[in-house]
Amino acid sequence: MKNTTRGYPDLHEHLETLKAQGLLLTIDEPIDKDAEMHALVRWQFVGGMEEKDRKAFLFTNIRDGRGRQYDIPVVVGAIAANRAIYSIGMGAPVDEIQAKWDRAIAHPIKPVVVDKAACHDVVHEGAALQGEGNGLDRLPIPISTPGFDSAPTLTATNVITRDPETGIQNMGTYRAALKAPDRLVVRMATRVGGAGGYQHYLKHQKRGDKWMPCAIVLGCPPYVAFMGPQKLPLGVDELDVAGGLAGAPINIVKAKTVDLMVPAEAEIVIEGLIDTEYVEPEAPFGESHGHVALEEFNMPMKITAITHRAKPVIPSYISQVAPSESSVIKRVAYEPLFLAHLRDALGIRGVKRVQLHEPLTGLLRVTIITIEKGTPRTEIWRALYGAAYFKGDCSKICIAVNDDIDADNADTLLWAMAYRMNPVEDVQVLAHRGQGHGPKRESDHEEDSTLLMDATMKGGMPPLALPKKEYMERARVIWEKLGLPALRPQSPWFGYTLGDWMPQWDAAAKRAVEGNYLENGRISEKQQQKGLKPETKFRPDTDG
Ligand SMILES: Cc1cc2nc3c(=O)[nH]c(=O)nc-3n(C[C@H](O)[C@H](O)[C@H](O)COP(=O)(O)O)c2cc1C
Repeated sequence: MKNTTRGYPDLHEHLETLKAQGLLLTIDEPIDKDAEMHALVRWQFVGGMEEKDRKAFLFTNIRDGRGRQYDIPVVVGAIAANRAIYSIGMGAPVDEIQAKWDRAIAHPIKPVVVDKAACHDVVHEGAALQGEGNGLDRLPIPISTPGFDSAPTLTATNVITRDPETGIQNMGTYRAALKAPDRLVVRMATRVGGAGGYQHYLKHQKRGDKWMPCAIVLGCPPYVAFMGPQKLPLGVDELDVAGGLAGAPINIVKAKTVDLMVPAEAEIVIEGLIDTEYVEPEAPFGESHGHVALEEFNMPMKITAITHRAKPVIPSYISQVAPSESSVIKRVAYEPLFLAHLRDALGIRGVKRVQLHEPLTGLLRVTIITIEKGTPRTEIWRALYGAAYFKGDCSKICIAVNDDIDADNADTLLWAMAYRMNPVEDVQVLAHRGQGHGPKRESDHEEDSTLLMDATMKGGMPPLALPKKEYMERARVIWEKLGLPALRPQSPWFGYTLGDWMPQWDAAAKRAVEGNYLENGRISEKQQQKGLKPETKFRPDTDG
């Protein structure tokens, strides 16, 4: 069936929108794709910048360490350098993204097959895939972690395979290391809940098929790109759900040399056959758990064709230590799932928010649950247990806090643990946790465990000893009028009550700040008493 219409933006249009909104930097300076490119973009994650100031970087003048020049640009951070970029790609404000996913999964739209596709503007096959400077070696694929990675590695992939029994395709984001102009090695996670493509690999192996057809797509329309890292039930075709996200069918076309359907507007499609018999060492590679994955055997893929648009652009994800593009993608998707699980599936009262701690821990290890004040202790503990076991990979440490604690500020977390928690009553350690996604440890098969902490207030506490908000705001106006250095308020930046406070003390503070402290002196003089030990507490409502 022929179709030339398109109801969703492709990557080029997405980049135009980012540019118009000041979210895309174009770098025309010569940049070494291996030694400089990812390190340069990394600075915006480790250089003390705010999340909202991060950008996508489009590199137009790419070299390598041998001085070779490349004519295809590379964009890093175009899908999720920050939440604003992610939200543009998703066509929805950040807090509506989960609802959009839910709707798309409930109402998928089947793709439509086209017979002419932009991704087939240029086709390289046979001899064009042989020899240096040809095939994969023509593509400016960057090294992600210079100094540790052993190969330029495809990261922003949508890897398509087909279930040989049901015929249903799967699409996942898996890394793939370049090995030769016509060979790369793909890494599909083999753990429980790992890569859907690996299940297809096992089925091909069982049937005695030497080769598994595979298409590695680089640069999909954003609605399709988002499907790569998303975890959908096995057997759900991601292209149908991408149509649900777009509200229009995705155009697909038959690949040139393998029996797979690929997105018609893809920038580049690498077609080939995965060897189900031999495996080949791959990595070291800087991983999303923040450590370098050491060398391991993975799946060699023999390239049968590389097809691309007339003027393609190659996306590359910046992952590794969080925060990163990959942690932004996962955080936006996972946090609402946790909240829905605790609040709706388990019906726990008082859960207001779930945050997955991002810097360095990379969402996998620390989960913070915000609980309404006054929630029964039993509900707090149900929330802690519920979060701990929702995903095998996450929530090794779960902390319940009140809503004045910001999970993105580890200082406030330590503050809550220090002042609101009695370890002997409010901490539990539970055995039997899998190792999850993480670096190799000394003993590979040793079990991990879980730490649960109730760092909520157990009763009223005196106010936080900072000037009340109105005084801090008034002073800020003066600060700015004086031209003092720009402020970046860090929570908590004003005092507020924590439950133990009386209206009489409010009235006294008001009189004091209005210059009438002598009146307070007259009131307290009337309360003088004999024979009490200094530091005996006084409460005006009961004693005065
Ligand atoms: C930047 C990035 C890199 C990833 N690399 C891999 C990888 O190399 N192998 C893998 O199995 N999963 C990897 N993942 C996670 C998968 O994309 C994720 O589990 C996804 O749900 C897989 O789709 P599937 O369930 O259809 O296989 C990566 C995710 C991101 C965001």
